[in-house]
Amino acid sequence: MITKCLFPVAGYGTRFLPATKAMPKEILPILNKPLVQYGVEEALAAGLTNIGFVTGRGKRAIEDHFDVSYELEHQIAGTGKEKALEGIRELIERCTFSYTRQIEMKGLGHAILTGRTVIGDEPFGVVLADDLCFGEGEGVLGQMVRLFNQFRCSVIAIEEVPRDQTHNYGVIVGEAISDNIFRVTDMVEKPAPQDAPSNLAIIGRYVLTPDIFEILEQTEPGKNGEVQITDALLQQSKSGCVIAYKFKGRRFDCGSVAGYVAATNFCYEQKYLKDD
Ligand code: G1P
Repeated sequence: MITKCLFPVAGYGTRFLPATKAMPKEILPILNKPLVQYGVEEALAAGLTNIGFVTGRGKRAIEDHFDVSYELEHQIAGTGKEKALEGIRELIERCTFSYTRQIEMKGLGHAILTGRTVIGDEPFGVVLADDLCFGEGEGVLGQMVRLFNQFRCSVIAIEEVPRDQTHNYGVIVGEAISDNIFRVTDMVEKPAPQDAPSNLAIIGRYVLTPDIFEILEQTEPGKNGEVQITDALLQQSKSGCVIAYKFKGRRFDCGSVAGYVAATNFCYEQKYLKDD
């Protein structure tokens, strides 16, 4: 059974400067809830209660968010405002939170390898909180955990993107097992549109088997001089055991201003305009 989920949150969020100069990008709210809280809610809904953060300098607000704030709670005790904290209180009660620091920013693969100390030798989920996902019926990570239980292989979430966007993503090639499930045969990190082998882009949800750590240790820096999880997964796929899954639901790239605004509008419509 998978119980652990890793959140690499050390990145600088340069696409969102100046908002992210002194504030972690993961704390940016969609409506009144920080992005990272949506991610942890998705992990909990998938049954992953052991939450590990790979954090870095300037990210203290994330630790404080997943902790009790005694002064604040004392201040609003017995008032209607307590209701606003119910969701985060439930996460704090039902999950445990561990933190380790990434000292140097050497890529997503390096961040995941840094998380080995909080994961150990077990399969685990990975959530990139700035990809905000709303699953259809079931959360995206929950859908992936079910596939992991079926295949016992690493599972990566994919979606089709316009050809001219491939340079923003890892891109896969696979043999279709069924409608939305592929066995990965090739993958490449952020190819230029003319070099992209498909338009099936990896989005920020992974379920990884722990042999990925040994592979990451051997993975040389790739695109942009960073250790890429895509390169490690390509290596892992050579044993035939990486599954790509076209998830059911919607995803917003909240690391970009346009995606962030689209997510905000979507959530606003869901929350406040649904019954009109
Ligand atoms: C990372 C991965 C990339 C993936 C993307 C999903 O890139 O390296 O393969 O497609 O996340 O969001 P980043 O967006 O961190 O540059």
